[in-house]
Amino acid sequence: MKDHILKDIVALFQVHPVKTIAQAFAGELEAALHRRESSLKMLPSYLSRPTGEEKGDYIAIDFGGSNVRVMAVSLCGNGRSTITKQLSRPLVSIEQGYDLTSAASTGRDMFAFVAEMVEEVLAKGHRYQLGLTFSYPMEQEAVDRARLLEWTKEIKTSATVGKDIGVLLTEALKERGLGQVMPVAIINDTVAAFMAGAYVDPAVCAGSICGTGHNTCCIEPSLPAPSGLPMVVNLEAGNFALLPENHYDRRLDRLSLDPGKQRLEKMVSGKYLGELFRLVLLDLIEQQLVPPPQRCPNSIDKPYMVGAEVLSWMRAESPLLKERLNSWLSQHGFAHYQDHDIAVLRTIGNAIVDRAAYLIAATFLAVSERSGTSGNRRAVAVDGSVFLHIPGFAETVETVIRKHQEKPHTVELMPVIDGSNLGAAVAAAQAKRYK
Ligand code: BGC
Repeated sequence: MKDHILKDIVALFQVHPVKTIAQAFAGELEAALHRRESSLKMLPSYLSRPTGEEKGDYIAIDFGGSNVRVMAVSLCGNGRSTITKQLSRPLVSIEQGYDLTSAASTGRDMFAFVAEMVEEVLAKGHRYQLGLTFSYPMEQEAVDRARLLEWTKEIKTSATVGKDIGVLLTEALKERGLGQVMPVAIINDTVAAFMAGAYVDPAVCAGSICGTGHNTCCIEPSLPAPSGLPMVVNLEAGNFALLPENHYDRRLDRLSLDPGKQRLEKMVSGKYLGELFRLVLLDLIEQQLVPPPQRCPNSIDKPYMVGAEVLSWMRAESPLLKERLNSWLSQHGFAHYQDHDIAVLRTIGNAIVDRAAYLIAATFLAVSERSGTSGNRRAVAVDGSVFLHIPGFAETVETVIRKHQEKPHTVELMPVIDGSNLGAAVAAAQAKRYK
């Protein structure tokens, strides 16, 4: 009986034919391009493919999920680059008493914080061009003008939505007396992954983030950038909605800050994978498939208590990661769990993670069909902790793609590490040509 219930729960996370989802995604792409109703967007970046020969010294900022990183990056051409200085600070620090993601903070506070970090990275007496990777939906009318459409990933900072991020950053730099730093490019993190990948490999036709959030950008053959070449467009793929949902997905969505939005992101990204697992686990306990937790201060009753890393440890073979899982289980009141209870948790964790990999593979199939490159190879540059660090995740995406690709071209995945900084520098180098 218990086996049967577990099987039914696992079945809720099985993906309907990958092809059907890929076709639905392709249909939404087409609709977005023709400005028909769609859960996808085609947000222009005003940038095209880099040549790989971009050179010079830039300041690159990565404003993403949980940290701000500022780097001095030298592009050396031939797809080579070096990082000469770098700094990283969290957006939330309980010890230092600040939370830039809460409604009590404003966009001005955020960018004052960023400007202070930029000052620490600068070499005195230099003039710099700056590229900012800002990992939220923005509407652009030029490469350095970007109005924030909405927050995602549960951020609540006030007085920022609807504002131009370029203006907020420029004002903050001026207020700090940093007039020698000129923001020339503001890009989404998917565009940064694309730039970082395409800087070294001309087969890259799309960029994606599978991390705290999820999204994809691609080259759109029918839209020209200022260079005259096809433009890179941000799809805001995390909002893709033509998806089969189960009651855990619906519950997670209902309790989120933005119900009805970011449906794909809520099934595949690091911000939500652990939360889905937590909702299933509460249900397993209620249905007595696993024992209730012992009383414990770190109870899993609180939303978002379970991070995606826990699902990662469940898939790991290494003794170190198994040890981390055991210590997490003890800290959260599951020290009494037997091997067979832990096996139930693993089955659920794997089902949630595998579904994410299948869904992402389906969207990559759709995107790579549309965004051609000259040769037979088509590559998607992918950055983000889910893709890079969850054991077996990238391999599953790859296997699903290999099984379903039909065209004469091959679709490859290119893991990109630190794409947001390198990509911001490459974008700044490309943007300054149009100044
Ligand atoms: C944002 C995207 C971003 C993605 C990955 C999503 O929540 O809407 O703009 O690219 O996260 O960081």
